[in-house]
Amino acid sequence: MPSFASRDPSAPEFWSERFEQEFTPWDRGDVPEAFRHFVEKSPQPYVTLIPGCGTGYEVACLSEAGWDVTAIDFSPAAVDAARKALERWAERVVQADFFGFAPARPVELIYERAFFCALPRQMRQAVVNRWAELLPPGGLLAGFFFFDDAPKGPPFGIVPAELENLLTPFFERIADEAVADSLPVFAGRERWQVWRRKAH
Ligand SMILES: C[S@@+](CC[C@H](N)C(=O)[O-])C[C@H]1O[C@@H](n2cnc3c(N)ncnc32)[C@H](O)[C@@H]1O
Repeated sequence: MPSFASRDPSAPEFWSERFEQEFTPWDRGDVPEAFRHFVEKSPQPYVTLIPGCGTGYEVACLSEAGWDVTAIDFSPAAVDAARKALERWAERVVQADFFGFAPARPVELIYERAFFCALPRQMRQAVVNRWAELLPPGGLLAGFFFFDDAPKGPPFGIVPAELENLLTPFFERIADEAVADSLPVFAGRERWQVWRRKAH
């Protein structure tokens, strides 16, 4: 186990240290099956934002399918890792803080994986508010949610009722499935969910 100076997962240094020391137990090295399936069966391509993208393998999957995708991460080391991995799609990765990022085009889909559970619990409401601000009525929030009640993280799990309380003022859930190809750190405790932005 490497040793780290930064203990604050809301700071980019926390994540940069872990990318630099190649301690990234959340990194799949590829695209999760439920996400690939979602893209394949989608009725249309969506303008997509990937907050906290890490290595961002999903950028290549979406780009090759002809989708307009922007991936952001506030850690310079994460952005370097993503740009190296993505090669021809590298310019679709932007170093930016999710809370201040203004997309160039209106976003239709936000993809979530290991970003929401990476942040301290007290930041959850702010993340949900920003998701809701970025998506128009009918827009989709799709991805993987980590359910757990252990106090320590990251990853910081959430209990189902809390996720529902946070999201239902803005979103309705339209899909909820078990995940078969989880990494050990998430196994048995993550679900693929799709939430649609309400009109109010
Ligand atoms: C656990 S990693 C997950 C990376 C990626 N989503 C994946 O599935 O492999 C969390 C990522 O979120 C990024 N992150 C955390 N807070 C952020 C913020 N406010 N703005 C942008 N990126 C952020 C971190 O730098 C880190 O790369």
